[in-house]
Amino acid sequence: MKIVVIQGPNLNMLGVREQNIYGPMKLDDVHAQMEEYAKQNGVEIEFFQSNLEGEIVDRIQECLGDADGIIINPAAYTHTSIAIRDAIAAVQIPTVEVHLSNIHQREEFRQTSLIAPVCAGQIVGFGPFSYHLAMISIVQIMREIAAMKEAQAGQQAQAALQGN
Ligand code: DQA
Repeated sequence: MKIVVIQGPNLNMLGVREQNIYGPMKLDDVHAQMEEYAKQNGVEIEFFQSNLEGEIVDRIQECLGDADGIIINPAAYTHTSIAIRDAIAAVQIPTVEVHLSNIHQREEFRQTSLIAPVCAGQIVGFGPFSYHLAMISIVQIMREIAAMKEAQAGQQAQAALQGN
């Protein structure tokens, strides 16, 4: 099972940008913690950060046939990008939206997510711990889907044996 983590614009500046909102932790350190959790749970993980909307769309498309789950912090594109929303809807891979800050508590323009309606769920407001909660969620979702597929395959095999 494989998770792809996609980080939007300015998240490469974590630990430097607006520390009063986003805290002192650097993106590499957030990713190191996620990698540790992935290892403990026997899942593969890959990280991608871009400041460009089209590159994020490309990376989501590349997940098709490759990833079983996506964790995305679309950053400012959360509030503007129909293209990123459409890409997530297109690939139909379970996706968890993450934000460090509680976007629902902030400026009005941040309170709308164009991405949330095509995601399995949204986690906001826990700082870097939001990513840990996203890992727990996506691993659970991927396991449930894998178990469902296995059960379906078992049923099909049995039906074939019985000549149905
Ligand atoms: C953010 C919230 C966005 O509104 C903002 O543009 C970001 C970070 C967050 O993680 O809290 O860049 O996605």
